[in-house]
Amino acid sequence: MQLKYPALFQQQCYINGQWLAGSEEEVITNPSNGEVIGHVPTMGQNEAEQCVDAAHKAFSEWKLTTADHRANVLRKWYELMVEHSDDLATILTLEQGKPFAEAKGEIAYAASFVQWYSEEARRAYGEMIPSHRPNGKIVVTKEPIGVVAAITPWNFPAAMITRKCAPAFAAGCAMVLKPAPETPFTALALAKLAEDAGLPKGLFNVVTGDAIAIGGVFTADKRVRKVSFTGSTNVGKILMNQSASTIKKMALELGGNAPFIVFDDADIDAAVEGAMIAKFRNAGQTCVCANRLFVHDAVYDQFAQKLAQKVKALKVGDGFADNVVIGPLINAGAVAKVQAHVEDAVAKGAEALCGAFAKDGELFVAPFVLTQMSDDMLVAQEETFGPLAPLFRFYDEAEVIERANNTESGLAAYLYTRSLGRAWRVGDALEVGMVGINEGLISTAAAPFGGVKESGLGREGSRHGMEEYLEMKYMFMGGLDQ
Ligand code: SIN
Repeated sequence: MQLKYPALFQQQCYINGQWLAGSEEEVITNPSNGEVIGHVPTMGQNEAEQCVDAAHKAFSEWKLTTADHRANVLRKWYELMVEHSDDLATILTLEQGKPFAEAKGEIAYAASFVQWYSEEARRAYGEMIPSHRPNGKIVVTKEPIGVVAAITPWNFPAAMITRKCAPAFAAGCAMVLKPAPETPFTALALAKLAEDAGLPKGLFNVVTGDAIAIGGVFTADKRVRKVSFTGSTNVGKILMNQSASTIKKMALELGGNAPFIVFDDADIDAAVEGAMIAKFRNAGQTCVCANRLFVHDAVYDQFAQKLAQKVKALKVGDGFADNVVIGPLINAGAVAKVQAHVEDAVAKGAEALCGAFAKDGELFVAPFVLTQMSDDMLVAQEETFGPLAPLFRFYDEAEVIERANNTESGLAAYLYTRSLGRAWRVGDALEVGMVGINEGLISTAAAPFGGVKESGLGREGSRHGMEEYLEMKYMFMGGLDQ
């Protein structure tokens, strides 16, 4: 690996400001070719406890610093991320597989959260409320919640970390992080830059290894006041259960099953462009990915043909090769899921306009477009998390709203129409946390990201993301006539 700043490639955990090796190690491989990239320690309960000890101690000092100080440290971290974005993207592509240009985009996205919250740190305002009694004052202050445990996914190995860490540090919290086992090196590189930026020791701890043992400490330790998790709905439910005994605050960003609705009055070319990004970003491994594309009968064939033409042109391959836009999927299980959805749909009457699987053992999938879909197919009910665009036909607005909402998930939805009235009507009726109207890419540090129903709890990004790391304290000051 050629890095301009080789110290970014860390193969040790970062605990209490020290880089620590373990007695056992896990091998991390490149999903493009199976080659070994490096090793990380297999840490467990003891090290997770050390992380919490260190974070608890660091929190007691960090919470007393000024907002200005925290803002400046975060600003420095942001600048270092920008300066080293090529190296960070190189590490990210190697361990996650996404094309280098897309990895650079993710690093910019990740850095934008650090920038945003470096500014937001100064705006954790309290409130003064007119008193219910004479000679008294009602004052509301905001306090950092304490030690936060974060568990982050492999699909966005940088952005899902900074979207949690940056508001936490801005608010005055400390963090213990367990990154996804597939993508630890991006997390460790971010920790190295945080160290360089002057984050005090113990404030940010990154531990790799035994998920059950580490997660057990994160959810059971009383000093951890919040758990923030991005990942599957099933694991989210387990963490919520485990956190119940100590009543932790939870932030859960879980699975989606996003509808992407194209009405007959839509700009079809814009809808096709939107579908390309909403469906094939990160090879479809995104929780806000369009999972069910509902297309009005009157424009169905036209949309299908235009989409398939663009999809066939997508170059699939190693993320470092020229012009590649679809990298490998993360592992064999991810490929098997796409395969299961395609086979189930085809067995029930779907037609594949394009798409193919690579030879055995390879993780490349040439993206699929399937037509003649019906709601009894697997993909109608579960997230594929891969490059498969299934096109469902619909006939009217009320019908498509009902079908779009017929899922336990409620993360994102997309709709394309030229009618302003319909855009608002359908946008209001969709049971989700986020709606893209004539837009396929809705993610930004400026907006609150999150879902309803089984897609999770809480919001990340925007000023609302900061509130998630703050507690309100109400103080009544009486006797002011004395
Ligand atoms: C995710 O897939 O979990 C996040 C995607 C995004 O931030 O756009």
